[in-house]
Amino acid sequence: MRTTSPGSVTVRVPAKINLHLGVGAPRPDGFHPLLTVYQAIGIYDDVTVSASDDWSLTLETAPYLDPAAVPLGEENLVFRAATLLAELHGLPVHADVVIRKDIPVAGGMAGGSADAAATLVALDRLWEAETSDEDLFRLAAELGSDVPFALMGGNALGTGRGEVVESVRGGDVARWWVVVTAREGLSTPAVYGHFDELTPDAAAPSPPHRLVALLADPVEAIAGLLHNDLQEPALDLRPELRDVLAAGKRAGALAGLVSGSGPTCVFLCSSADHAREVAAGLDGVGDVVLTANGPVAGAHVVEYA
Ligand code: C5P
Repeated sequence: MRTTSPGSVTVRVPAKINLHLGVGAPRPDGFHPLLTVYQAIGIYDDVTVSASDDWSLTLETAPYLDPAAVPLGEENLVFRAATLLAELHGLPVHADVVIRKDIPVAGGMAGGSADAAATLVALDRLWEAETSDEDLFRLAAELGSDVPFALMGGNALGTGRGEVVESVRGGDVARWWVVVTAREGLSTPAVYGHFDELTPDAAAPSPPHRLVALLADPVEAIAGLLHNDLQEPALDLRPELRDVLAAGKRAGALAGLVSGSGPTCVFLCSSADHAREVAAGLDGVGDVVLTANGPVAGAHVVEYA
């Protein structure tokens, strides 16, 4: 048992992709009903929180990211996460927070949501608040549709507006992905808005039973089942992504699709070696080409000092 309070806590949190993203017509609250299969993949942000009487938020980014694209004021989801947790426990919002960012910004990989989830976990430890899982997931859902999944990680079925998550099979079967980022992000509300224009009579999304049943099967079984209802609106808004998807096919990927609301594109590969080959074939396409495996764990403590 630890007897002294921590001076700092670092939480690592993964990016998400959607193996399936089914979208319905907007609800009265403006959000779209989703049926989605999430997978957490090994591109991570680290959030370090250190003891302080005041609040500060700073950012370090991978060279392929634009730091100017991340707001550091009260609109950052990290500040909102800290505020909700502090309110729950009757505390002031107090910590020095550093985000080390590798997850593409506004990339369709839920990077901002990931940072919010990491902040909840890190501040809970730093403040020794012992928040229940139930409260953590409730606050996460309040923060954003993808935040509960960032806490959970692995493979999950997402319903509601994406915030209702349930772990599904295949957690121990490694998949390999090539990820092609675009430096200029896409606005999630703009992509959903364009979905509404292109699909004025969207039907309620149906459950991806087949994909969920095959998640632990050999990789070829899922290659033909990857699907994203936001892909057409994202391609319409960013036509050059069609070239990225075509280049992935030429490079030998088993399947490729836009991740969430884009513009990141992800390509399914059969092994780590195959992913390296596909990545080499995509050299010079898009902005940066990464390889990542999934599923991986959700937000978890990696340093406690
Ligand atoms: O929930 P989150 O804050 O991530 O959503 C950002 C925006 O994306 C929402 O304001 C909404 O425009 C859109 N969205 C949606 N339907 C969802 C999730 C997000 O329309 N299920």
